[in-house]
Amino acid sequence: MGEIINVSKIVECKKVELKERVNLLKQKGIIPKLAVISANHDEASKSYIRNKRKMCEELGLSQEEYVLREDITLNEVLKLVSSLNNDKSVHAILLQLPIYSHLDENKILMEISPKKDVDGFHPLNLGKLLIGTQGIIPCTPKGIITILDSLNIDYAGKVAVVVGRSKIVGKPVSQLLLNKDCTVITCHSKTNDLKQYTKMADILVVATGIPHLITSDMVKENSIIIDVGINRVNGKIVGDVDTQEVLKKVKYITPVPKGVGLTTVLSLMENVVYMAESF
Ligand code: GUN
Repeated sequence: MGEIINVSKIVECKKVELKERVNLLKQKGIIPKLAVISANHDEASKSYIRNKRKMCEELGLSQEEYVLREDITLNEVLKLVSSLNNDKSVHAILLQLPIYSHLDENKILMEISPKKDVDGFHPLNLGKLLIGTQGIIPCTPKGIITILDSLNIDYAGKVAVVVGRSKIVGKPVSQLLLNKDCTVITCHSKTNDLKQYTKMADILVVATGIPHLITSDMVKENSIIIDVGINRVNGKIVGDVDTQEVLKKVKYITPVPKGVGLTTVLSLMENVVYMAESF
């Protein structure tokens, strides 16, 4: 029988460290500030934003929210981003995704100054991730590494299989695991015979948005499973992995809820503090 990773405990420990860094900044008269731009009516996004706001308050970070009208033009959004880029009190800018479909997401993300790009989605930060130098790392992938690091695993030569190739999770986490010397396989919706690959995984990261896609016959004995999915099924939140069945076979698995979602918000806070420190 495997173990469900206590992600809440990992996050609580990290918060103590982070509070100390925030206090040091405050002694220098700096209050780290995050600007959140929200341009959608998505319920899941509202819940992410609420969680971000709560953790900002808890850690003593400042947060400002810009809720955009549905008829806003791309130019108006670009102007807002430009004014936030020039605002010396703002250290970090987050464009909550998804956004209204008439707006060009990539154009807006490119406009955010790489120094204030808290999600690490700007091509400069993504390029740094590719060459393995220090940049801003996307929050969910960074949080996944925090969880894996807490297990003290030796990454070198481990087979890491990532299911999902989004710019938010799949692609950057594949790159991070490659930078850690894993042998990485990235699977996606067009992969033939998914099970053939998932069964090889010492570390399996699943980020597809398909409830219970991964069943126990698809995983390797004694492996580590990171379930990024947050799906609402019959009023209940479930992951992309059939946790209870898979748990019988693997060594560790993250829970849903109170799993990767918690480290995503923690990583966001870490990025904001890092950006205020290096301002
Ligand atoms: N929507 C879902 N996850 C994320 C994230 O990590 N960052 C942003 N900006 N939007 C998201």
